[in-house]
Amino acid sequence: MKAITYDRYGPPEVLKLEEAPKPEPKSDEMLIEVRATAVTTADWRLRASEFPGAMWPIGRLMFGIFNPRNKILGADVAGEVAAVGPDVSSFQVGDAVFGHIGKGGHAEFVIAKEGGAIVPKPDGLTYQEAAAVPFGALCSLVFLRDFAKLNKEQRVLIIGASGNVGVYAIQIAKILDCHVTAVASGKNSELVQSLGADQFVDYQKTELTKLNEKFDLIFDTYGLLAFADAGEILIESGTFVPLNFGIGSVFGPGERWHCSISIREGCIMGQILHGSAATTPAVPAAIQRSKASVAELAAQYHLNPKTVPLLMLMTQAGV
Ligand SMILES: NC(=O)c1ccc[n+]([C@@H]2O[C@H](COP(=O)([O-])OP(=O)(O)OC[C@H]3O[C@@H](n4cnc5c(N)ncnc54)[C@H](OP(=O)(O)O)[C@@H]3O)[C@@H](O)[C@H]2O)c1
Repeated sequence: MKAITYDRYGPPEVLKLEEAPKPEPKSDEMLIEVRATAVTTADWRLRASEFPGAMWPIGRLMFGIFNPRNKILGADVAGEVAAVGPDVSSFQVGDAVFGHIGKGGHAEFVIAKEGGAIVPKPDGLTYQEAAAVPFGALCSLVFLRDFAKLNKEQRVLIIGASGNVGVYAIQIAKILDCHVTAVASGKNSELVQSLGADQFVDYQKTELTKLNEKFDLIFDTYGLLAFADAGEILIESGTFVPLNFGIGSVFGPGERWHCSISIREGCIMGQILHGSAATTPAVPAAIQRSKASVAELAAQYHLNPKTVPLLMLMTQAGV
């Protein structure tokens, strides 16, 4: 099969189109013929070995110290089931599917495990649209629900709101009836407002510490705010979840930050809390139950069809 491969870290030029062995599904796996795949920030960071701050040595340990261990990038795909192992019961050859397979997606064929984050592709979505969903949607869900414990009707500041992670963060926060202030560049103000943001802030024109309000949660996907600055616009028990930060900035003098880092599904997740953040489970129980049916979720939250695949993926992945 054809695949985009790389055997050393570096700029986009390290990527090559070449022949690679077609993978063989094990008994509980299926072979998917890829119709569309996504290139995400995770892919370029892995390709370039651009792991932020103190994550660099951890990233090299996880993904290959001298050269990349896995030669084919791409974690998200949409395609058609081409073969199934004997123990696979919920999918059959010819099914259109999409989801997060973790690695190897930039190829003609990939392997996915039954029971993993892979679900039927709704007819209303093209393969390209479906392949674009998993990374941003699942990251946002895990950070907002599991780390930030976002509660209903909280005030949320989302920095990087027009990006892959941010566009889903807005939608997840709005499902919880939160008040969302979205930060992006002026050209994306319409986009973020069309997704439900209540307020828009252009980071090129407004300094965030000058905002005349305080937030329960600041979700900074870009790494715009220093920890001390975030503290100025958080309520006392608020939560700051930055996706790009250096360890040095966490333990500044006089700050009351608590940091936890965990590894889930091969991703490093960090959580930084300011003060004593509330830890009560936030997101409605129906979303938290991994077996909740999509129909139930759709009916309960009046979701539009484009939001449903995201929830299908979440429930399937149990995240
Ligand atoms: N730790 C983890 O596990 C994890 C998981 C997922 C993502 N991430 C990280 O999260 C970041 C965002 O990922 P993504 O896929 O959403 O990226 P993306 O699609 O490239 O989006 C980047 C966002 O940042 C905004 N932005 C650009 N320059 C900015 C600036 N100077 N100040 C403030 N905002 C600025 C962009 O706004 P405009 O386009 O409107 O300018 C856009 O909304 C990446 O660095 C990624 O590595 C980490």
